[in-house]
Amino acid sequence: MVAEKSPLTVAIDGPAASGKGTLARRLAVEFDLPYLDTGLTYRAVAAQMQLDNVALDDEVAAIKAAQRLDLAALDRDYLSDHQIGAAASKVAVMPKLRAELVELQRAFAARGAVMDGRDIGTIVCPDAQVKLFVTAGAEARAERRFKEVAAKGGTSSYDDILRDIRQRDERDSSRSVSPLKKAADAHLIDTTKMDIETAFLAAKTLVLQAIER
Ligand code: C5P
Repeated sequence: MVAEKSPLTVAIDGPAASGKGTLARRLAVEFDLPYLDTGLTYRAVAAQMQLDNVALDDEVAAIKAAQRLDLAALDRDYLSDHQIGAAASKVAVMPKLRAELVELQRAFAARGAVMDGRDIGTIVCPDAQVKLFVTAGAEARAERRFKEVAAKGGTSSYDDILRDIRQRDERDSSRSVSPLKKAADAHLIDTTKMDIETAFLAAKTLVLQAIER
């Protein structure tokens, strides 16, 4: 008897503006898999707390916001705001909030998915068949984010964005629960000098190899 294959999960982690989201979306289309940007779940909780006017370290309020989350209704345009990203990295240090969101994220991944975030390969989907760690130098990431923000009519300066990216890297890498870290079995894709097409082809090859195994 041939053992049934478990559903395909692709775990993509990396720091802000590394290109992991673009890569994840393209892989999801290519392999016809559902896609979850887990950063949006932390952003949605932070945005709700700001709307409710509660402190960003209020774990009870954060858990309540997480329990009301509807993954199908996450508004990427609204949540992509730079300031919401910074707030998200503050709420993301709370262990009980993380446990709540990880449970939601695992339920989403159960039937196969492309997932991106900071702790997918290490905590959320440690058994994913393909793990990618996508990174790039802080200046290259700030440059990309600056162009994105400017294209949307935003006025943040390159220097402010670079400072913010560095602060976020520091907060995400140094927190005690689920810090941003490459899983031992993740493939490293450094996009500092790589265009998205090259990164996509490298990632696609890794997924195809995993499917054949
Ligand atoms: O990826 P994105 O920039 O949208 O994530 C916003 C913040 O949410 C990150 O800076 C990080 O602190 C947090 N996050 C996390 N774990 C994830 C995804 C995002 O801690 N899996």
